[in-house]
Amino acid sequence: MCGIVGIVGREAVAGRLVDALRRLEYRGYDSAGVATIHGGRMDRRRAEGKLFNLEKLLDAEPLPGRIGIAHTRWATHGVPNETNAHPHFVEGVAVVHNGIIENFSELKDELLSEGAVFESQTDTEVVAHLLAKYLRQGLDRRAAMLAMLNRVAGAYALVVMFENDPGTIMAARFGPPLAIGHGQGEMFLGSDAIALSPFTNEITYLVDGDCAIMTAGGVEIVDYSGKPVQRRSQISQASAFMVDKGNHRHFMEKEIYEQPEIISHALSHYIDFAANTVKANDTAIDFGKLSGLAISACGTAYLSGLIGKYWFERYARLPVEIDVASEFRYRELPLSPSQAALFISQSGETADTLASLRYCKQEGLKIGAIVNVRESTIARESDAIFPILAGPEIGVASTKAFTCQLAVLAALAVGAGRARGTVSAEQETAMVRHLAEMPRIMSRVLNEVQPQIETLSRDLSRFKDVLYLGRGTSYPLALEGALKLKEISYIHAEGYAAGELKHGPIALIDENMPVIVIAPHDRFFEKTVSNMQEVAARGGRIIFITDEKGAAASKLPTMATITLPNVDEIIAPMIFSLPIQLLAYHTAVFMGTDVDQPRNLAKSVTVE
Ligand code: M6R
Repeated sequence: MCGIVGIVGREAVAGRLVDALRRLEYRGYDSAGVATIHGGRMDRRRAEGKLFNLEKLLDAEPLPGRIGIAHTRWATHGVPNETNAHPHFVEGVAVVHNGIIENFSELKDELLSEGAVFESQTDTEVVAHLLAKYLRQGLDRRAAMLAMLNRVAGAYALVVMFENDPGTIMAARFGPPLAIGHGQGEMFLGSDAIALSPFTNEITYLVDGDCAIMTAGGVEIVDYSGKPVQRRSQISQASAFMVDKGNHRHFMEKEIYEQPEIISHALSHYIDFAANTVKANDTAIDFGKLSGLAISACGTAYLSGLIGKYWFERYARLPVEIDVASEFRYRELPLSPSQAALFISQSGETADTLASLRYCKQEGLKIGAIVNVRESTIARESDAIFPILAGPEIGVASTKAFTCQLAVLAALAVGAGRARGTVSAEQETAMVRHLAEMPRIMSRVLNEVQPQIETLSRDLSRFKDVLYLGRGTSYPLALEGALKLKEISYIHAEGYAAGELKHGPIALIDENMPVIVIAPHDRFFEKTVSNMQEVAARGGRIIFITDEKGAAASKLPTMATITLPNVDEIIAPMIFSLPIQLLAYHTAVFMGTDVDQPRNLAKSVTVE
């Protein structure tokens, strides 16, 4: 999604604005722009494509100035080109925007009828025109900003600069996040604290309905009626992390290989390794007393929730209602305050997940957030935060966040089982021991399977369609495998519950569509092997991801068999995630796609 930065500084800002935009690249974008004010004149550079195009323009024609705003655009209204790139200028007003102005066409009609001339196809430009109109009518800048905010509807983070006020940036939030950074004699704002981490770690987060008036000396925050509101600043952890690729070719590769270490760090938050128990749950949610659980999330986070459902139901005998957030939020699902709701989100800012959270809150449920960004909106609006402690995930394709979400869900499910009397002390000890050995097994798997997967990826890249199959917790993994492959390699892939094969997808089986079967030697193994037989009988090519016992038990011919160590059921989803991630990664690398920032995708999806 779009990234926003602004600086009211003591020295030139253009270079720093572009540096900050680079730290927001992970969000996904297709054009970028920067504007500054210098010598009473506002100027801008905008370019389609990646940031180096913008940098080339700035090298050729630098932008001086100690105040500026900048933007990476992820196109919603209008194609990605220079004209639609932000900042938008109208009569000395500059605007950058993340989100969607839902009533833009009605506002545009009104402005057109009054003689406004629009340059772009964006919804954002109506904001600049509205501000210009109110200034022309004689309102001062602050009043014009508030008048504009009272006209626009939708989800937005808006940042505005006025040519005739080279000391102030105004900003507003209604939906997508905005963070204000406090510096020494200068102030910053950005879409997240990571963008601002080279400048400051003292951050104030705006909440929905806040309008900030920022000068070099500080920030004043008011509501849309102009009444002052108080927001506390906090010290962000974002600056504690080095956001670079190290020796890896891509962030995704780095994040895949970080998993053993990171997951052990995440687990230590939830597990007492000395006592072999899940740490006492002292949060606002008492899993022992719940009548049910609702889980909602999007994309990969939803798929971790789907695996969590299997665990909560099996180990804690707790019924789970789960849906993708874009459906959940509109389903009008009947809920009761005796249930709790869990929202899973790496970014903690996903618009649909946040809307589902607010629905459950309204229904009186206690809210738990399984998030990576602890300062995010979803975390702040929850009663209990369950951090996944994965560190910044920059690759758009979620990898380490997925396995850390799974680790947290596994620990919560075992803890819930203990609290509900459905998991004995002995069972808890055994499961905790398995969780504890997981980082070591992950390291081993990453080292052992990498060469085979790299070779296999070359073969896989020749195909246009791929089918993934799995049963039990391997079914959501099949969905995740297909999602991972399609989002970064652009190969069409589908995930299916293995038992569903004969209800439709079997019609597709031929030698042109490899079938990736995920089947540890668990209680479903024989049934999944029967489905493999059905594939083999129809000339399908099988890539079999199994464990040592599974490899020994199956005699079917395969295109490749990836053999993992035998592991307990509770950790199998995390271990089996690794070959799935590596297969997608190497296939994409082989095909030469933009692995970390795949086309059309955004890391943080702050619009519906
Ligand atoms: O930040 P979130 O976890 O809420 O994001 C949810 C999805 O947008 C995300 O998992 C997406 O599906 C990833 N690109 C998958 O790799």
